[in-house]
Amino acid sequence: MTRKIIVTSDPGQDQAVAILMILGSPEAFDVLGMIATAGNIGLDLTEKNLRKILELAGRPDIPVYLGAPRPMGRPLVTAAHVHGPSGLDGPSLPEPIMRTQTKPGVDYMVETLRATASGTISIVSLSPLTNLALALKAAPDIAGRIREIVMMAGAYFEVGNITPSAEFNVYVDPEAADIVLRSAIPITMLPLDVTHRMLSTPARLDRLQALGNRCGVAAAEMLRFSETFDLKKYGWPGAPLHGPCVPAYMIRPELFQGRLINVTVETASELTLGMTVADWWRITERPRNVFYVRDGDADGYYDLLTERLARLP
Ligand code: BDR
Repeated sequence: MTRKIIVTSDPGQDQAVAILMILGSPEAFDVLGMIATAGNIGLDLTEKNLRKILELAGRPDIPVYLGAPRPMGRPLVTAAHVHGPSGLDGPSLPEPIMRTQTKPGVDYMVETLRATASGTISIVSLSPLTNLALALKAAPDIAGRIREIVMMAGAYFEVGNITPSAEFNVYVDPEAADIVLRSAIPITMLPLDVTHRMLSTPARLDRLQALGNRCGVAAAEMLRFSETFDLKKYGWPGAPLHGPCVPAYMIRPELFQGRLINVTVETASELTLGMTVADWWRITERPRNVFYVRDGDADGYYDLLTERLARLP
């Protein structure tokens, strides 16, 4: 079954690889458009990076829209220390030729959801949730029209990666995450608890490189750049590979395990801002708003990723 999707992203090497995986899976995804988000780096660079990735994959026909330049109620926190000054350091990719759309990304999301049969569009969120939350705030009627949200966001058992208690995408815009989590839209969350199982060991990166196509080689080069920070930080045999967990879950959910629980985000405490409190043991009566993925088959994940990247130019 092919899902119609709108992708929000702030690439970021892991998200670039997620997008390549999506583009290598046309039987699973009909990509309607991509909305650049401010996050890993400023919006001017994330939107350019999206266009670079689409051109790398030979898909300049997919429209790129500009999202909001900053989180809903806070200054932007970036992760340039992980992703490099361009946000996508590693391979040398040409300056993109394709143009960004002039319609604002939030308007695009609202109009597309309203113009398409209800329950047919999935939102694939690889980034902070700013644009989705702004769309839900501006047009609450779209909530009932979204088929599902599948997002890389949050952490509980693995705690935080940008603060001791918060995962980056949620920390950047906790108010946006709060709006999304309260929206009653079916949500699947791929948190650090699962992405930290998906380590990009040298053997797994070698397989991507050995594909020999430009997308496989660029993916390996990107991940070799961004892993440096994580290898030092965690001391593991590879870095976590976050973004591709989203398409991998959508293509082959049987590779993953999770459960339907309540997840609530902290928006007030200075110490734990952006923490996603997951009621894994169902201790409370809070609504079960999230299918929370906690574990997955790393070998199956990398096999799938390698297979899908092999299909690209
Ligand atoms: C998330 O933070 C970003 O730096 C990555 O691109 C990923 O989306 C992981 O916490």
